[in-house]
Amino acid sequence: MSIDQLAETAQAMVAAGKGIIAIDESTNTIKKRFDSVGVENTEENRRAYRQMLLTTPNLGEHISGAILYDETLRQKTADGVPFALVMAKAGIIPGIKVDKGPVALAGFPGEVVTEGLDGLRDRLKEYAQLGARFAKWRAVITIGEDMPSGTCIEANSHALARYAALCQEAGIVPMVEPEVLMDGSHDIDVCYEVTEVVLRSLFGALYEHNVMLEGTILKASMVVSGKDCPEQAGVEEVAEYTLRCLKSTVPAALPGIVFLSGGQSDRDATAHLDAMNRMGPHPWPLSFSYGRAMQSAALKIWAKDIKANVGAAQKMVHERARDNGLAALGQWVSGN
Ligand code: 13P
Repeated sequence: MSIDQLAETAQAMVAAGKGIIAIDESTNTIKKRFDSVGVENTEENRRAYRQMLLTTPNLGEHISGAILYDETLRQKTADGVPFALVMAKAGIIPGIKVDKGPVALAGFPGEVVTEGLDGLRDRLKEYAQLGARFAKWRAVITIGEDMPSGTCIEANSHALARYAALCQEAGIVPMVEPEVLMDGSHDIDVCYEVTEVVLRSLFGALYEHNVMLEGTILKASMVVSGKDCPEQAGVEEVAEYTLRCLKSTVPAALPGIVFLSGGQSDRDATAHLDAMNRMGPHPWPLSFSYGRAMQSAALKIWAKDIKANVGAAQKMVHERARDNGLAALGQWVSGN
């Protein structure tokens, strides 16, 4: 795979007015989502739920790609069509979560490092054969007393860089995700400082590992107030802080940046992205790779009757995709 092909995929992922739907919840995480709406976490229910999402009519109008979990990439529609094929026909690029989740970082209580590098070269080869064209790895950075430590940031950046280099070797675009959690009572300035250090460290590591930025996508967390901070920054402030932070840390060679929603309300996630794009132009397209902010409303509808409500849930998926697609252009009109 040439750098041109990787760059082409990366650019298609952030095509104007389009973003990513993240449906790569591990079996444990989807259990939490299903529990919250009273759906049993069986393989068939997971398959049916992902089929509902991926077969949403005209999803490709606003969605360029979807991140799947290993199980989903191997599953098929009820009619026996592999999901990767359904997506390709709808113009949606198949992506795959390849990390194996965060584990406690020894010696640093409260901090985590993401695992999954062992055997990754072979797994990526198989994922490419199954149709995956990009892959996600999520690092988790927690803000707290004496946290994050430099060691935690470095360990996670190193893992992200090794995974990214392996992806590119396999012809797969890495979507590098260093998520600074919203949990905590810190203010937006602290979130800014931490995010800045994390991104500097990440791009230093990518450089050291010969990762080609032209074939890489950043999945970033926005710079926001901690969830429990008494003073919550408004939409404009979040947009300004996030843009300032990204502009001072992310090279312009990167084809695009997509955001995670991280527990923001649907409305905030859309409003923040829209506000940032209204402040453009920027060195890179700014779009979305939302999980909860794309799915929550649809999941609630689907859960009420997982057979009869497929159409109504898909309508909601399309609405969220349209709203976020408009926000990616800075053209979202609140309340529409
Ligand atoms: P949220 O948008 O729900 O944070 O999920 C995005 C994601 O893929 C986290 O890794």
